[in-house]
Amino acid sequence: MTFESKAVPRHIAIVMDGNGRWAKKRFLPRFFGHKQGVDALVKVVQACIDRDIEYLTVFAFSSENWKRPSDEVSGLMGLVLAAVSRYLARMGAMGVRIRIVGDREAVSDKLRNAWNEAEASTRHNSKLTLNVAFNYGGRWDILQATKAAIKAGVPAEEMTEAKLSEFMAMSYAPDPDLFIRTGGEVRISNFMLWQVAYTEFVFSDCLWPEFGEAQLDSAIAAFRARDRRFGGVKEVPAAVGA
Ligand code: IPE
Ligand code: IPE
Ligand code: MG
Repeated sequence: MTFESKAVPRHIAIVMDGNGRWAKKRFLPRFFGHKQGVDALVKVVQACIDRDIEYLTVFAFSSENWKRPSDEVSGLMGLVLAAVSRYLARMGAMGVRIRIVGDREAVSDKLRNAWNEAEASTRHNSKLTLNVAFNYGGRWDILQATKAAIKAGVPAEEMTEAKLSEFMAMSYAPDPDLFIRTGGEVRISNFMLWQVAYTEFVFSDCLWPEFGEAQLDSAIAAFRARDRRFGGVKEVPAAVGA
């Protein structure tokens, strides 16, 4: 086992999936699953703080989630507004810095203002950075970074992976060490495509509203058991002739 794999992940990314199925199992409208999902998130944020995780990025609404029925989409928007007014002060007191990543153009002024307030009021916090990916897509991120780099006048010969990374939505954060997807699906669904090049993946059948400390610990334990090689080899080769 290597040093890197024994350490606590600095950055965890989570696809919080399975809210709809959680509600369906209880004969409830999907909205109740999303509502319960917000409570699960608040608990997981605290659990991450307790475990010294520095960055938590959660997929809350994808670029493709607009395809859902309009009442579900508007229900989700309303839920986010309610969550900001209910939990913002608590998150602030917990030392959480909130950052929203995604295309803000398409959301309402009201939601945009709530995001701005959440970011501004927590910007001096440093215990944990919570990135909420909302109207976010991995392809959108790569495209917006490319456009921004072109606008900034970066010449082709100076364009490198590191340079383009500077324009990505989460350029301030290290790439995720651990990616968790709940809800049983084994796919990325256009989450952080650029940043997960060497991330360790853990897929769980647990539905997001039921995800808590025990499931987080089991994902971290799986991560710690991995041997991260980043394309290299860990064994020190025996010297020739030794
Ligand atoms: C994830 O739960 C939350 C969002 C996409 C907003 P889902 O709503 O996708 O739940 P399932 O996958 O239908 O159970
Ligand atoms: C991914 O879940 C997006 C979020 C959790 C916000 P989806 O439920 O939208 O993904 P698919 O449709 O199953 O791929
Ligand atoms: Mg889903």
